[in-house]
Formats: sequence, C-alpha cells, structure tokens
Amino acid sequence: MPLPLQPVIDHIEQDFDGAIQRLQDLLRIPSISTDPTFNDQTRAAAQWVADDLKGIGFDVSLRDTPGHPMVVAHHDGPTGEDVPHILYYGHYDVQPPDPMELWETGPFEPTIADSPHGKKIVGRGAVDDKGQLMTFIEAFRAWKKVHDALPVKVTVMLEGEEESGSPSLDPFLNENKEELAADVCVVCDTAMWNIDTPAITYMLRGLVYIEATLHGPNCDLHSGVYGGSLRNPINALCKILGELIDDDGVVQIPDFYDDVLPLGDSEKAQWESLGFDESAFLGEIGINTPFGEKGQSTLQRVWSRPTCDINGIHGGYIGEGAKTVIGAHATAKISCRLVANQDPGTIHENLLAFLTQRTPKGYRWEFKNHGTSPAIRIPTDSPYLEAAKEGLKETYGRPAVLIGCGGSIPLVGSIQQILGFESLLVGFGLDDDRMHSPNEKFELRCLQMGIKSHAAILNRFAMISQEALASASSM
Ligand code: BES
Ligand code: MN
Ligand code: MN
Repeated sequence: MPLPLQPVIDHIEQDFDGAIQRLQDLLRIPSISTDPTFNDQTRAAAQWVADDLKGIGFDVSLRDTPGHPMVVAHHDGPTGEDVPHILYYGHYDVQPPDPMELWETGPFEPTIADSPHGKKIVGRGAVDDKGQLMTFIEAFRAWKKVHDALPVKVTVMLEGEEESGSPSLDPFLNENKEELAADVCVVCDTAMWNIDTPAITYMLRGLVYIEATLHGPNCDLHSGVYGGSLRNPINALCKILGELIDDDGVVQIPDFYDDVLPLGDSEKAQWESLGFDESAFLGEIGINTPFGEKGQSTLQRVWSRPTCDINGIHGGYIGEGAKTVIGAHATAKISCRLVANQDPGTIHENLLAFLTQRTPKGYRWEFKNHGTSPAIRIPTDSPYLEAAKEGLKETYGRPAVLIGCGGSIPLVGSIQQILGFESLLVGFGLDDDRMHSPNEKFELRCLQMGIKSHAAILNRFAMISQEALASASSM
C-alpha cells in the first residue's frame, strides 16, 4: 500500500525553520578540503552529517580514506515490498572562501538575507553542496517523522574531496562495490533552469587540469642588473599562454577539436526552445559582450563545446607595492572543459606537447596533473528519470526541462564505470548563486522546494512498476 505524500509535504512546511537551523549548523563548519590546515574541520563536517543521518534512523559509518572520510549510510525500504534501491550522493566539502575581503558577512557565519526571490542563506557551501545535500536529507527526515518509513531502499554516500579532485573516490568505489550497489545514483549538485522551472541535467562537461611551471635562472634576479640579458620566465609564460586561444576563441592545442561531435538538429531545437536569455546570463555578472567560437550560441558553447582557461597565474613579486625583480620561475594553472567523445588522456598529452614545443631554449617545464575526467551523457529514457520528472512536476506545477551543464562532476563517470549504473542529476541551484565565489548563497525557496521535490521523487520511485524496469533493462 503506498503511503500518502501530502502529510510529508505538510511536515516539511511546518519544520522548515528547523531545516534552516540545521543547514546553518553545517555551514558553520569550514570543511575546505583542498587546504590541509582545515583537515580537522573537514572531518567535523563528515561527523556532523553522519550524526544527523543516524538521528534519522540510518545505519551510518564514517569511512577513512587516504584523504577525507566518506560518509556511508543505509536505510531499508518498506518490509516485504519489492522497491528500487537508490544511492544518494552529495559532497560535504567546500571551496576555499578567498578573496575574503569581498564577503559581506563571514563565509562561515551563515546569514539569512533578503533577496528578490524572498530570502536567501549566504555562506560558503550554501548551494555547493551543503544546502543541496540537505534537500534529500530533510526529505528522508520528513518521511521518517510522518510514516516512520522510507518508501524505497536508500544508501547515502557523502564525499569530502569533491572540490579537490576526488582522489579517494575511485579506490573507494572499487573497494566497496557490493555495499554501494544500487539501481541509480541521485546526485544533488546541479542547477535549475530558473527559480520557477526545475531541471534534470543530462550532460556534463569533462575536465583536464594541469599546473605548469616554467623554470629559468637559478634564482630571482635584480631586474636592473639582469633585465635585457635573458628571457624573463614570466614574460615567456605569458606569451605561450597567449597562444592557447586565437582572437576568435578557437583553442590552438593540436587536434583539440578532432573528436568533437556536431550538435544534432533535434538537440539544437530543444535547446533553442528553452529561450536562453544571453544578456541576462552575462548581465548579472557585469558583462555586455559575449566571446567565444563563432557560429555557436552562448548556450551551445557552454554546454557542448570544449574550452581552455587559465585559472591562475603566479610568479615574481605578488605582494603589496613594487619590487624590481625577475622571478626565477612562473606558474600557470590551466584547465580544459571537455565534451562528449573527447579523450581526456589525449587532450592532456596534447596540452603538454603544446607547451613543450614552445619551451624557451635552456629553460624547462615542471608539470602537475590535477585530474582528468571525461564528459558525460546520461540516457533520458530511464524509468528513474521519468519518476523524477513526475515528482518535480507535482511539486512545481510545471514540467522539468532537460539541460546540459558546463561544469563537471567526475563521480558520475566513476559510478558508470566502476559500479555500472547511471546517475540522475536533480539540483536546485541558480546560475547567480555565486558558486565558488564570495557571497555564495542558496535561495530559501530553492531549499524548501528542493526538500519537497525529493519527498515527492522518493514517492514516485516507489511507484515505478516492475514492468517498466523490465522493459528498461531489456533495452
Ligand atoms: N557543483 C559543481 C558542479 C557544477 C558546476 C554543477 C556548475 C552545476 C553547475 C561541483 O562541485 C564542481 O565545482 N565541480 C568541479 C569539478 C572539479 C573540481 C573536478 C568543476 O566543475 O569545476
Ligand atoms: Mn558541487
Ligand atoms: Mn564545486
């Protein structure tokens, strides 16, 4: 017998202040995974979510890895019923808050403030990903409170290294294949189309990320004594980096576009029907002139074309005031976003070849690899995706749209390859949530609608008929 959803939805409304307070508690913990000085706090965030899941009635463990711990929690479905088994994924780590001076309130002092949409919660991790992972945790809490049961069998896996390249993820999946087996993985780390229109993401870009240091003289030099006598490593690096992209936005790495597939007509038409507002998208960030490959719309470029971006550059003197110096070396952090069919290994090699071919005589490169992941496409005809659409429609009163995503979530590829099942990407972020940037926020409306959506989707998962599953798996 299906349990009614409405009392769960009512409970979510009544308990919303509690949900906000719990999210604030989690946001106060500075779980910056990339910076080892925050290792204790990162672990504290893992412990916080583990304790919270335990309080809801999950069987929880905090699992050590060579990096930050993984939180794994299990909960049975209704006894005696043949229901799907869903793996829920989110990450409890956050990006560093810098530049600190641009935050209007402390990054780890979560604050409720007015927004054009009502109220928002501001703090590092508000949308990426603590606020989002609480959307499904709160939905579990409400189901348990009202019905003392979850409608499906649930496993939760929460990672603490997503923002630092997930080095422990693949080994962990490999070592725990059986325990993590499920029918589908629900990922809560993506965005909506806009605040009124829910979305399911079916494409993600991949990533190749390197750090390249060009070494020149054996020490920093007085730029008056030596200037004019040798090649300045920073000048040389800038010239080489300047050649990565031409004036039309075309990436110059050898064979870069060889494997990129053209966008199909039906996909192109579907994206056009979404009515993307380019001037609003760029206007919000103070830009009035788009830039990129010609003959492609901005949405097409962000979702379906690869890029090459310099993410950081340093060398010489970067402190206050002036210092007349020629630095001994110069470093750039360079990343390429990849699209379907591009091979991350090949792009990585070709990027190193591009730089190596341009090494100034007598100088040398030092390369670090910060991770590679392929682009992902998720089949859009699964019964789980259909169930999510139904749950979103009943929550928002309008259908969800299928969207691409310019960002990357390497976990989705790892789940496909190692555990052998697909993911379902349902998220409640907005483009202007300032992910990875100062004053990151999550709209309280998105938080509440996200919780209600997950409650409704859980209900829809339980309604997936065995026939639908049989026909899906035979396809
Ligand atoms: N939540 C993001 C991914 C994302 C980006 C979703 C944009 C929706 C829109 C995730 O936490 C993230 O930042 N991913 C990194 C991956 C990298 C560290 C391997 C990214 O895309 O840069
Ligand atoms: Mn994220
Ligand atoms: Mn992120």
